[in-house]
Parts: sequence; structure tokens; C-alpha cells
Amino acid sequence: MADLFEEKSKDWDSNDIVQKISSSVGGSILSHLTLNTQMNVMDFGAGTGLICHHIAPLVKKITAVDISQSMLDKLVKKATLVAKVETICQDITKKPLNQQFDLIVSAMALHHINDTDQLLDTFQRHLKSGAKVALADLDSEDGSFHPKGTEGIYHHGFKREGLQGSLEKNGFSQIKFINAHTIAKAQKSYSVFLVIATKI
Ligand SMILES: C[S@@+](CC[C@H](N)C(=O)[O-])C[C@H]1O[C@@H](n2cnc3c(N)ncnc32)[C@H](O)[C@@H]1O
Repeated sequence: MADLFEEKSKDWDSNDIVQKISSSVGGSILSHLTLNTQMNVMDFGAGTGLICHHIAPLVKKITAVDISQSMLDKLVKKATLVAKVETICQDITKKPLNQQFDLIVSAMALHHINDTDQLLDTFQRHLKSGAKVALADLDSEDGSFHPKGTEGIYHHGFKREGLQGSLEKNGFSQIKFINAHTIAKAQKSYSVFLVIATKI
């Protein structure tokens, strides 16, 4: 499988937009969820570990799942994360992990996955009963967020009511959307939601 983030991984962490998103999303996760040092957390599409950075000190362990080895290679070089974070380069929708988590977090990865229902079903199977997801991505946009021709983009953001329906269909309840961040680009602004839901 091609590593679509190989080039981007080189300066991912020095991208101001990326830093601001992860800072807001990480802050929202900490404000709206109660974390504890017994929790095993999955970060789906963890990339270089910017969201892990916010969560790691407060939980037992994070499993950082991504299909980009180059992004994960950046993560494992971070001294603050090595003790708490295990990286797995694998498409868990095709090859699931043999583990259930207390929480799955994800930032800006959902729009890279074609079949959202299948992904939410995969999440549900990787969670203990009563465990939560906290998923951040773009609200529905006009397709101008990514440069034309960017590979691996399957959704121009998400309509909240559509995602809510998919979460309900795949075994989640207590669904709450939070306005996590606004990305200000030169011509336009794009809003980012964080949705929290509980596995029934
Ligand atoms: C926009 S980046 C976000 C990275 C990180 N969450 C952050 O906020 O900095 C999207 C990430 O999703 C990953 N990704 C794309 N498809 C994936 C899949 N099927 N399984 C796991 N990760 C995937 C990409 O490799 C990339 O690292």
C-alpha cells in the first residue's frame, strides 16, 4: 500500500494549521472526557502523535494505529511518548486487532476512509461495552480544504446528522457534537467538530 503521507510526514509537526487543530482537539478531548491511568486508548490515524501527546500522561497506554509508516516513524522518535505509546502500522478495517479499548480517539483521519459505516463498526468491535469514541474531523465543506487532486480524500467533511445516524446504526448512543476548532485559511474558514459517543 502506498504511503500517502511520506512527504507530508517530513514537516507535519512544523505545520501551523496542523498544530492548531491538534491543540484544540486535544484540549477539547481533555475538557469533555474523564481520563484515568487505568485506560487503554487507541488513537486511530495517529500520525506523528500530536493527539497522543495530550492524552499520554493521563492514561495507561495508547495504541497508535496508522497505515503510514513514515508518520509513525516520527512518533516513535518522541521521547515523551515512547514509554506510553505502541505503534501499529495496519489497516484495522481489514485486519482487526485482538484487543478492546476503553476509548478510541481520532483527529482528521475519518475523511481518509471511504466506508465510514465500516470504520464505525470496526471501532465498535474494538471497544469494551460502555467505552467511548472521540472523533474529530471537518464539518461538511465545499471540497476546497485539500488542494485539487490530493490522493486519499474520500469525504469533503461530514454532515453532523449523517454521522450521528451512522454512529447510531453501528451501536453508539449518547452522541454529542462539540465545536472544537475553526481553521482559518487565506480565503475561507473550516470548522472542526469533535463527536463523543458511547458504545451501547
Ligand atoms: C490528516 S492526518 C492526521 C494525523 C494526526 N491524527 C494528527 O492530528 O496530526 C491523517 C492520518 O490518517 C492516516 N490514515 C489514513 N488512512 C488510514 C487507515 N485506513 N487506517 C489508519 N490510519 C489511516 C494517515 O496515514 C494520516 O497519518
